[in-house]
Amino acid sequence: MTSRIIGTGSYVPEHIVTNDDLAKIVETSDEWILERTGIRERRIGIEEGTSFMAAKAAQRALENAGAEAEELDLILLATSSPDHCFPNGACEVQAAIGAVNATAFDISAACSGFEFALSTVQAFVQSGVYKTALVIGVDCLSKLTDWTDRGTCVLFGDGAGAAIVRAEETGIIHTVMGSDGVRGAVLSCAARNNGNFLNGKQPELDYIYMNGQEVFKFAVKKVPECIRQLLDESDTDIGDVKYFVLHQANSRICESVAKRLKQPMEKVPMNIDRYGNTSGATVPILLDELNRNGQLNRGDKLILAGFGGGLTWGAVLLEW
Ligand code: COA
Repeated sequence: MTSRIIGTGSYVPEHIVTNDDLAKIVETSDEWILERTGIRERRIGIEEGTSFMAAKAAQRALENAGAEAEELDLILLATSSPDHCFPNGACEVQAAIGAVNATAFDISAACSGFEFALSTVQAFVQSGVYKTALVIGVDCLSKLTDWTDRGTCVLFGDGAGAAIVRAEETGIIHTVMGSDGVRGAVLSCAARNNGNFLNGKQPELDYIYMNGQEVFKFAVKKVPECIRQLLDESDTDIGDVKYFVLHQANSRICESVAKRLKQPMEKVPMNIDRYGNTSGATVPILLDELNRNGQLNRGDKLILAGFGGGLTWGAVLLEW
């Protein structure tokens, strides 16, 4: 028994922020952003927060799967920008969609969150604990972005993507996850409350910090490496993979991964031009687009792969 994706959904905020809009608040240009990242515009939630976007994507995934919320016995929500410390975002989605029979919790693995969540669902399904799961990748990084830092603020956008997963005979073939906490400082967000009545510390407001070049080097090495590991361990020929659904952080990273794997760009779909880097949401949003555009057929082999803060990385090989 394995877990198969039977439906997908996504949600992005209505408000579009173009590169030209950003050039009004920091010293940058449409030309620089497009050339270095592939991004033209991104969506920023004015009122739409993490749980709101997640619930919208979840409802759309349920509709797409033809499933009822009551059928869900597990909700895993991957985010690094929850609205609150608790209740967790998964419980808020549970309440919003009426998934009264589900156990719900969050997973934090930054931009690899969706792959981590899908791998976790797979372990639960394979062991027979749960049968029907909702997996969500969602982030609202606009709340954690320093809008005066041109090195980071041009990269991110808000959004959510979701998948309904069910225990079936075919579906996920293999998963790979990894972490390197020693190098965590190259991509971090230190917002925290370390205070109590003894140490007298106050909550600290902080924003995303990134050493862009180090993250770039990490991504172009680690993503092909973990995809090769996934293929080797599952004895799969790379030529049999129809699409590599990669984390949308930078179009140059996607191009470099394709080159290192010796795969044509037709097999590496991208939508970063419209949404920027929505962190844990990029892979499920892109998957939902492929699904709704009719680009996926039963039996197609796909690899989903992400990387991000932690540092973390993860990849999933599945049959559609
Ligand atoms: N607009 C204009 N100029 C900018 C800029 C912006 N938004 N951001 C940086 N610059 C400037 C820098 O200050 C630097 O100027 P200098 O040469 O005068 O010092 C110059 O552009 C080059 O900066 P550099 O950081 O070397 O650019 P880069 O080619 O590495 O591109 C990133 C920067 C952030 C786009 C790139 O490193 C990247 O995508 N890294 C990975 C990020 C990522 O994936 N993060 C998410 C992980 S989940």
